[in-house]
Amino acid sequence: VPELAYQNGKILPISEAMVSVEDRGYQFADAVYEVIMGSQGRPFALQKHLNRLHRSMSALDFPELSLDLVKEGILKVNEASEIPDSVIYLQVSRGNQVRSHLPEREMNPVLTITVRRADETPVRPLSPGVSAITVPDERWGRCDIKTVQLLPNAMAKTRAEKNGASDAIFLGPENVVREATSSNVFIVKDGVFYTHPLTPNILPGITREIFIQSQAKAGHEVVEEIFSVERLLGADEVFLTGTITRVLPITKVDDIPIGTGRPGPGAAAFLELLIEEIRTQK
Ligand SMILES: Cc1ncc(COP(=O)(O)O)c(C=O)c1O
Repeated sequence: VPELAYQNGKILPISEAMVSVEDRGYQFADAVYEVIMGSQGRPFALQKHLNRLHRSMSALDFPELSLDLVKEGILKVNEASEIPDSVIYLQVSRGNQVRSHLPEREMNPVLTITVRRADETPVRPLSPGVSAITVPDERWGRCDIKTVQLLPNAMAKTRAEKNGASDAIFLGPENVVREATSSNVFIVKDGVFYTHPLTPNILPGITREIFIQSQAKAGHEVVEEIFSVERLLGADEVFLTGTITRVLPITKVDDIPIGTGRPGPGAAAFLELLIEEIRTQK
């Protein structure tokens, strides 16, 4: 079975799935997306992804699209692929029209889904740690909406690579630590976890949410507050969270070692918890 796409209710090889050159996603980045991890043949945290998709579409005043239909499409194409550990990508654009900044009143959203084999199984040990650079956040003011407008993220990631680092961390005014190019940032200091609060400047990450909720259940509070790069550099641990990233220890930032320079117990504990959630998903 090849890696598959889903389009207009049909399943086909990815190379045969096409969108129009007048798709508003293509011309204006007028589209939203989700990346979902398939594990043991099932999409992990599917309802949370559907809820966030709905939130993104509402925030941009997209025409209605049935979430039941989206869900059905995801399940259908992921199952047809027979890939146990998959990466499910789904995109919804506002629709097709003759190019004009102003969207037409009645539009039909365009849904496409692809399923590919994941590079690695989500059930694998913690990374020994990677390095990151910091970059000024040059993105727009609504990073809480998951749009395909990812050029600043792609450029920051390229800059990281050029500097021999794995990722880039976006800094807002006054060197506030926001998030990385495709994951959220946590720091640990004296046993306490900190992360940027939910504002229009970061994506409400699902992995971030799973972590905060699991900590709350165990009676540990994650402090959601603004902190600067100085606090990040002086932290005991820094790690990233995301669907594809899972939990990734950052052991060096702008060539400065973090803590012991090795992954810490906070990241390790969260990974264990996340793997347990993936294994026992309902
Ligand atoms: C900018 C950004 N922040 C955070 C995340 C992490 O979100 P999630 O845990 O839902 O994958 C992503 C994921 O794609 C992202 O693109």
